[in-house]
Amino acid sequence: MSITDQIQQVRSEFQTDLKSLSSENGSVDTIRIKYLGRKGLVASLFVQMGSVSKEERPHMGQALNELKSEISTQIDTLGSGDNSQGENREEFIDYTLPSDPLPAGSIHPLSQVMEEIKSIFLRLGFSMAYGPEIDTEFYNFEALNIPRHHPARDMQDTFYISESVLLRTHTSDTQIHFMESHDPPVRIIAPGRVYRNEDISVRSYCLFHQIEGLYVDKGVTFAELKGTLDYFAKELFGKKVKTRFRPSYFPFTEPSAEMDVSCIFCKSKGCNICKKTGWLEILGCGMVDPEVFKAVQYNPEKWTGYAFGMGIERMAMLKYGVEDIRLFYNGDVRFLRQF
Ligand code: PHE
Repeated sequence: MSITDQIQQVRSEFQTDLKSLSSENGSVDTIRIKYLGRKGLVASLFVQMGSVSKEERPHMGQALNELKSEISTQIDTLGSGDNSQGENREEFIDYTLPSDPLPAGSIHPLSQVMEEIKSIFLRLGFSMAYGPEIDTEFYNFEALNIPRHHPARDMQDTFYISESVLLRTHTSDTQIHFMESHDPPVRIIAPGRVYRNEDISVRSYCLFHQIEGLYVDKGVTFAELKGTLDYFAKELFGKKVKTRFRPSYFPFTEPSAEMDVSCIFCKSKGCNICKKTGWLEILGCGMVDPEVFKAVQYNPEKWTGYAFGMGIERMAMLKYGVEDIRLFYNGDVRFLRQF
């Protein structure tokens, strides 16, 4: 290959190297050494000048000198823009540039549903109450008409801390705490975390959240309970949902019921989520059992009331169509960002 061709080849190779410099994060020094170093490509062309004929030599020399100055000018320009050298750094910071936006967080879906449920009941005149997550057998069971050997204790597998101290299995303990320290009438909701020693699966977790409601006054009726909860369901799931009450059993309410809403996924036609029934169970409720009033020194002849309790996770799963309860706890931002 003639020297002229080689000069041309080095020139175009240099241009290619320049282009890949930014994308591959290569260093200017590597290029400088490759072309202008003592054993670089330009130097090796000068060595070949020895074999060029006398007539051609001035012409070739000029072409080679041009190549050399071309390459060094371009490398110098690059070198001056290269701010990886610590001492030059400051000059290249543009203080007027807007900063990168901070990643925006989002409110956890459980908090969102909790807030929504709270706001519905606050509008109805309920106020907030809170109970302890570590509680005693008395508040979690005994005062709620669940004595020690009552089979209902098996319904809720309990984490015991000592013989009589436990992690509460439901927010119903707050009914007792509140009535013990307040005279009737009572109209509260009590949200909070509860714990159950259950196998972890898509449906159940060892901790979850509930919201409890308690209303005590003179002459409270089951019709008021139904009306309040029907209004609540329509506020949360939409005006079109229907509710139904099925007889059930809780030791602390009599009579007791479970409330279902018409399936919001299939519009009651029957799907996998409602197990083809057209209904979704959403809460437990009932009229406060006189035994509970006795435990808190309320006169059951004088006072009546209703109570209800529901799981927040279940509400959030239904509202957002989440199929695995564990997603609420593993902190995966890909999940959380969707709310
Ligand atoms: N505490 C009950 C549960 O955890 C729910 C409930 C609350 C039922 C209040 C009736 C009244 O299943």
